[in-house]
Amino acid sequence: MDKLIHHWGNGLTRRHAFKGLAGFLAGSTLLHGQQDVFRDHSRSPGLAELTSSFDFEPIAYAKLPRGVFNYTAYGSGGEFTLRRNRAAFDWVQLVPRGLAGVTAIDTSTEVCGTKMAFPIMVAPTAAHVALFPEGEAATHVGCTNASDTPMIISANASLPVDKIAESASGPLWYQLYPRQQPEANRPLLETAQQAGCQAIVVTVDQQAAYYERRLHDRHLLNSATRARRATRGAGSPYRIAGFRSWYDWKLFHDLRPMIQVPMLAKGVLTAEDARLCVEHGVEGIVVSNHGGRALDHSPSSLEVLPEIVDAVAGRIPVIVDSGFRRGSDVLKALALGASAVCFGRAPRYGLASFGADGVQKVLEILQGELVLAMAQTGRPNLASIDSSLVRTDFA
Ligand code: FNR
Ligand code: LAC
Repeated sequence: MDKLIHHWGNGLTRRHAFKGLAGFLAGSTLLHGQQDVFRDHSRSPGLAELTSSFDFEPIAYAKLPRGVFNYTAYGSGGEFTLRRNRAAFDWVQLVPRGLAGVTAIDTSTEVCGTKMAFPIMVAPTAAHVALFPEGEAATHVGCTNASDTPMIISANASLPVDKIAESASGPLWYQLYPRQQPEANRPLLETAQQAGCQAIVVTVDQQAAYYERRLHDRHLLNSATRARRATRGAGSPYRIAGFRSWYDWKLFHDLRPMIQVPMLAKGVLTAEDARLCVEHGVEGIVVSNHGGRALDHSPSSLEVLPEIVDAVAGRIPVIVDSGFRRGSDVLKALALGASAVCFGRAPRYGLASFGADGVQKVLEILQGELVLAMAQTGRPNLASIDSSLVRTDFA
């Protein structure tokens, strides 16, 4: 009897029978249906199915290595400012106005000499090749295809500025992380201006960032990246990176003669610094907390925007970024006095999801949402947007 069972259990015939059955079941939609009734979870939606800028984030998450995704998503410290950037939009209501006789919407404007079809720009963000093989070149194509959206090239771009510039025809600005030796900035600024960049944005707010989530990711990165990061801020018990803490207002006077286009300061969060910018020859401000990646527990840029607009008093344009994800967010900032809005993560998620097409689609969604919000608030053009459009309740 034992012998018979052994034979039955291990004989070729039974094994074949099992194999056949397993093969049949594995291919059977019926079995999959029983195992996972929500089996569409495994399907990544196509570009045409995405309806808001938020929709790109989970696709980017699915496509990117975890460390690369987190590099985009994270903020500094405990991410208070990162969260507050989004929360602030809940503290601003839009005032509806029907019966306003709006028949056409004109969103066009000009900021620091650059004409824009929409008051929407792409913020400078580092290392696009990690998100998509064609990197910043694909971002520039996507921007150009989305009604010539201006793109600000990061000082930490993964491609050379001229390579990015030759990939498409839309307007470009260049962001500088200044070098301490004034002359060391000259070649960077010359290259950018020769490539056609129409403004220079000097970022002043990321002297000493501390990324907790980067430390949590240390096992997800390759050893070269780990080694490079470990040496940053070496010798400082407070993890101050040191390489940018030397900035002072003299910087703008050193840089000014090397710049033939408008010079802006990015990372201003107080009325006092905004006034000093004007005094030191800065021709535009980007109100920004670096998307919650600089000083944690600093305010959201939306809530300090009104006091900065007051301080500047129309002398130079005030651009704003950090936390923007919707066209209605743009409208709120315009009502609080901004001239334009920059988006950092939203186009990055577009790029990671679908390359240039993803960037284009994200921007077109934002543009469409802005037009819709202007129609609903009875504003036919940017000149008609003022503070009566919003009620603010900053907590
Ligand atoms: C940035 N940002 C940034 N800023 C800058 O001046 N130079 C840079 O190289 C970078 N790099 C960078 C990388 C990544 C991954 C992010 C998310 C951000 C800040 C950027 O210009 C902008 O201020 C914020 O991204 C705006 O916030 P949102 O739109 O991302 O919420
Ligand atoms: C950052 C730097 C590159 O935010 O600005 O990661």
